Amino acid sequence: MHSTTPWWRSAVIYQVYIRSFADGNGDGVGDIAGLRSRLPYLEQLGVDALWINPWYKSPMADGGYDVADFREVDPLFGTVTDAEQLIAEAHRHGIRIIPDIVPNHTSDQHTWFQAALAAGPGSPERERYIFRPGRGPDGAEPPNDWVSCFGGPAWTRLPDGEWYLHLYAPEQPDLNWQHPDVHADFESILRFWFSRGVDGFRIDVAHGLVKDPELPDLPPLLDSADGPRHHIQHPHWDRDEVHAIYRTWRKVADEFEGDRCFVAEAWADTPERLAAYVRPGGLHTAFNFDFLMASWDAKDLRAVIDDSLAMLHAVGAPATWVLSNHDVMRHTSRYARKTVARWVPNERYQPEGNVDLELGTRRARAAALLMLALPGGAYLYQGDELGLPEVEDLPESVLQDPIWERSGHTDHGRDGCRVPLPWSGQSAPFGFSPENAPAEPWLPQPANWGERSVEAQTGDESSMLELYRTALRIRRENPALGDGTMTWLDAPSGVLSFRRDPGFVCVVNLSTEPYRLPDHTSILLASGPVTSGLLAPHQAAWLAA
Ligand code: GLC
Repeated sequence: MHSTTPWWRSAVIYQVYIRSFADGNGDGVGDIAGLRSRLPYLEQLGVDALWINPWYKSPMADGGYDVADFREVDPLFGTVTDAEQLIAEAHRHGIRIIPDIVPNHTSDQHTWFQAALAAGPGSPERERYIFRPGRGPDGAEPPNDWVSCFGGPAWTRLPDGEWYLHLYAPEQPDLNWQHPDVHADFESILRFWFSRGVDGFRIDVAHGLVKDPELPDLPPLLDSADGPRHHIQHPHWDRDEVHAIYRTWRKVADEFEGDRCFVAEAWADTPERLAAYVRPGGLHTAFNFDFLMASWDAKDLRAVIDDSLAMLHAVGAPATWVLSNHDVMRHTSRYARKTVARWVPNERYQPEGNVDLELGTRRARAAALLMLALPGGAYLYQGDELGLPEVEDLPESVLQDPIWERSGHTDHGRDGCRVPLPWSGQSAPFGFSPENAPAEPWLPQPANWGERSVEAQTGDESSMLELYRTALRIRRENPALGDGTMTWLDAPSGVLSFRRDPGFVCVVNLSTEPYRLPDHTSILLASGPVTSGLLAPHQAAWLAA
């Protein structure tokens, strides 16, 4: 199918959070060996590619997003040779590999930052990062009022008096993208991995690389909670100058045979701003976080779908759809709140209300069918296919996300969506580690996760896993799905109904009343039982029509 268009326009890409996917060496942490052993599972699931979170050498201050050496694999995960073998083996299973690249910052243990520390103020070594004197008497105040995404100021002062910028943890100093060395090194890193066979890269914090050279204080916030969304000229997010970097990267990707591709993690104020990343000559695709942040509401979702498709089609790029990732509360748990809280852009999601996982699961099943029927590509986060909820009751003593410390213990952070996967058996580690070395997983799994394991769900037609397997099989076989266009069909408020040609209709009932399915020749798949042609609330169906 879809053989005339590049694969990434329609791909279903499965996100492997490597620390938590599968442990091959029995140390309780996922690794490349574990991932290799599970490639048959991923092939059977029916995904086209894997996005793998950073596997590079790292002190793990931010789960590997603090990279000390981009040309080494961290021993926790394996070696460069293991990575090469994984790439070759995945290709044999028909699965492409997309590692993460982290260009906004390095680890404080990176040789460049260590050299900058040793060389002292005013040295050329410091110019590769963003060092500045402080403000106020004795320079004791940070150079500006920027804040770290993990809480607290975005600046740390060194004993020699200078401050350095880190939009994330202090262990993640921001690189200076005004410096030619930074450009040259990243182009060389891309070539290093492209020549080892990777099919693309997910670009971490793609919207953050370029800072206003004046480093001004933050602009006043516009209240965009209601009404049209505005773009705020920001001193360090989504600046126009960032696109020149990606035009160069595109040329690097195009040097290699095959359809290599980029996907940007770019948080943009408006769909127009997001589309700018994927203009011709720029990146191939970008995550569409508006879809992930939309509440379980037909009007909101339809508006997001329409705006995204309009803006992306205008620049000739495919849409991508995503419901969960390693940074946000899992959608089964987001949807488990009766009213899904409004997500304040640029803020972490704060859930409200009691958790009803039965409701969350019904909605998650329907959402999967909605997402996989929309035009373009889709991202699944490991465990989506098992219907895993967020683990909201992790003991504070085990939390590892830097957000927990940096927020002064007010925000539990992202560990709840990063708990190691349950594969089989009735007790921890549920097959996460090898049977002969059942190590304690790096985050504890809930005691009842045996019922959600791959083993428990396999062959159970009512399970989330079998729903995903069937949906992905139909998606591969049906020429109407993947890249292309869609047409909305008339439906009452609270119901989304659209057609994909040839001959495919998707209906999602987000209302509280049953909905009579439109004319069809057969039901290809439904997220729950359909009786007398009625689609129950929080259910979706795929129809041949
Ligand atoms: C991205 C990653 C997140 C990481 C941050 C800093 O947002 O997805 O996990 O903490 O960048 O690299």
